[in-house]
Amino acid sequence: MSEHASADANVRIFDTTLRDGEQAPGAGLTVAEKIEVARQLVRLNVDVIEAGFPASSPGEFEAVQTIARETKGVAVAALARCKDGDPQRAVEALRVAERPHLHVFIASSDIHLKHKLRISRDEALLAASKWIAYGRKALGPDAEIEFSAEDATRTDIDFLMKLYEAAVDAGASTLNIPDTVGYAIPVEFGKLVGRVVDRFGLAATVSVHCHNDLGLATANTLAALQNGARQLEVCVNGLGERAGNASLEEVVMGIRTRPTQFPNLSTRVVSEQITAASRLVSYLTGFAVQPNKAIVGGNAFAHESGIHQDGVIKNPLTYEIMTPQSVGLSGSQLTIGKLSGRRGLQGKLRELGHDVQGEALDAIYAQVIALADVKKDVTDADILAIVEQGATETAQAICLQGWSVTSSHGGRAMGMISLKIGDESRAVEATGNGPVDALYGAIDQAVEAVLGWKPVLAEYEIKAVSAGEDAQGQVVVRVRRSTEEGRDAFVATGHGLSTNIIEASVAAYLAGAEKLQQDAIAKSKLLEAALAAGEQPEKVEKLP
Ligand code: KIV
Ligand code: ZN
Repeated sequence: MSEHASADANVRIFDTTLRDGEQAPGAGLTVAEKIEVARQLVRLNVDVIEAGFPASSPGEFEAVQTIARETKGVAVAALARCKDGDPQRAVEALRVAERPHLHVFIASSDIHLKHKLRISRDEALLAASKWIAYGRKALGPDAEIEFSAEDATRTDIDFLMKLYEAAVDAGASTLNIPDTVGYAIPVEFGKLVGRVVDRFGLAATVSVHCHNDLGLATANTLAALQNGARQLEVCVNGLGERAGNASLEEVVMGIRTRPTQFPNLSTRVVSEQITAASRLVSYLTGFAVQPNKAIVGGNAFAHESGIHQDGVIKNPLTYEIMTPQSVGLSGSQLTIGKLSGRRGLQGKLRELGHDVQGEALDAIYAQVIALADVKKDVTDADILAIVEQGATETAQAICLQGWSVTSSHGGRAMGMISLKIGDESRAVEATGNGPVDALYGAIDQAVEAVLGWKPVLAEYEIKAVSAGEDAQGQVVVRVRRSTEEGRDAFVATGHGLSTNIIEASVAAYLAGAEKLQQDAIAKSKLLEAALAAGEQPEKVEKLP
């Protein structure tokens, strides 16, 4: 536990990276990836993991249920609209949870009621009461039942109070105040929260959920805390739709760094796990963290100017308001090279926030030593890239057997790829504008011939993992299946890591294609099961 995380912490951290965060377009995670993130959230010691929105699709239901079943020592939340079918699916997914937390919501502002839901205030109130009471009855007196008034900050205050009163009467134990469109300003938001706390603070925990459209999500969340909110809804790296949600690391470190502003208030978060959480979420979603992002940006603790460097060497407090170690950035000089043993690597991994043992340690060790053969300095970034690369490995449906490419100045490139897809082997040649284009074209043809779809490249990014001529190149691609289009298409992120950038590019594209195939298999299995059970699986629109 972090030196500051106290056992009697009184601020509940509700992490919604896997629900609101995952709604960011293109941030789609597979079930295995969601579980990997949930495990890291447990290490981070958040109080609640909002695992998803079970009614949205069979895959989402499965992810929430699996996280609910496997995650211990933390509450697991599921979201539901106040609409027949949603709360039932959420309750079903949560039944296996040690600490179920049902989160029901309905829009409350006139603009949403009139134009989106096309219902009156009274109808909204009745629906909220009905489904909160349902949840309370279904999950029992010990479960957490949270009610959110969507777009609360643009809702008529008298109606908002009436809605919260009805919610408490129906059995809600948490009242959430979402700033759905990121419209609030801190002092104004603090006052609103204060009014809700004064009126309902004894009957329910008051929660806030702030979006970042004006860049004020963290400020609004902290203002809410100062006015009595005791549950804060956040996402790792501030992930989320549009400009995102309040960022977990900013909120947690804000509270920790300024205790006089938040007297007697603390969270249970193990802040030393923040960097590992940030890296994992960024890696799996493919959403890079901007270098100047507070707390977790690459430059957050870098001092470039001579005056700053001089000050930090004399006393880090001159320019650092928190230590890099407190957020899990390694400050040690422990270096890893060809002659390092497993023990040394295990120690380094622990410093970097990963407790790895047994076969997993052996596999990482083998890769680190292989890298040390071709690269002079194996850096922390190299080691983390190797760990992340293996984070969610599954059985491969698409296996690389070999590739070759020729490319010359001014001419087209010619690539050849040899793949084993399921039981079939395919060798295909293609030309392209450059070596990567030629090889990707060949992969497309091979995959389409066997699977009936081909990967469509939406984004390609390459970066050096560390400095120096022998640096490893990390390629990140985003791909979708040619047979799926539009906002709901599953977009997979693929990574490749090698000192050879063509190798890294091929590996990334194949990793993305592999995830697309796993997603296609999972979806067809779930659909078959649902149809066999006589269900008509519904696809719902994206949430705010
Ligand atoms: O932003 C929002 O209003 C939400 C609710 C579902 C809580 O995400
Ligand atoms: Zn939201």
